Amino acid sequence: MNIVLLGPPGAGKGTLAGNLKDDYSLSHISTGDILRAEMKKESALGLEAKSFVESGGLVPDELVTRLIEAKCQEDNGATKGFMFDGFPRTVTQATDLDVVLEKMGQAIDVAIYMEASADIVVQRLTGRRVCRQCGALYHVVNKPSKVEGVCDECSGELYQRADDNEETIKNRMSVYVENTKPIIDFYKSQGKLKQVNADNGAQDVCEKTNQILNG
Ligand code: AP5
Repeated sequence: MNIVLLGPPGAGKGTLAGNLKDDYSLSHISTGDILRAEMKKESALGLEAKSFVESGGLVPDELVTRLIEAKCQEDNGATKGFMFDGFPRTVTQATDLDVVLEKMGQAIDVAIYMEASADIVVQRLTGRRVCRQCGALYHVVNKPSKVEGVCDECSGELYQRADDNEETIKNRMSVYVENTKPIIDFYKSQGKLKQVNADNGAQDVCEKTNQILNG
């Protein structure tokens, strides 16, 4: 099964993917995580992506699709499918993804649209903390770690993403409305779109998505 998670920044795509991927044996592919790892390594690709990511703009389609194709080929066959988080983000990326999957004899089965209110996503993003070591996600109010600043899973240091400040979040939201929202119609017209209310708690979002995937 191949799934796309759609929704505004902070809707909870990474959280939901983390909760579902093992149950369905899916490879979780997050373009945001891949880009941040490249930036950390200071690879040519990371350096090219840095200014876009830090300002909340979109990294060029061609570069992101290249990354996705390489990752899909690497993971193909190792799992029962892919769960895409943060990709596609433009209609061009959505059509490119179809081509990438078609080459492997696969296709997107379902796109989960995680609808979330603007005030809720701002609260989630400004309070988000991420483990530097294992990538586990926390929130200072919604999901605090047991010891402040320390990951429950691996004792790694928790940090705040550079793009999780109010100014950049505003930009990410407008980029989302302009470029990513049209993808909702792309999947709707193919009969693949399913919607969940992502304002609810993480467990409820996970249960509703399970019902969709098993329905
Ligand atoms: P990316 O990392 O994909 O960021 P994003 O889409 O803005 O999404 P987020 O990771 O911020 O949020 P999320 O929905 O995963 O929420 P999370 O689960 O973490 O991309 C970053 C940048 O990379 C982009 O701006 C762009 O520059 C570039 N980029 C990436 N992909 C690209 C592409 N395809 N094309 C071009 N450029 C690209 O949750 C957030 C917080 O809320 C957490 O603290 C969590 O604990 C909490 N939370 C989650 N769910 C719930 C819930 N249901 N209830 C309460 N709290 C919750």
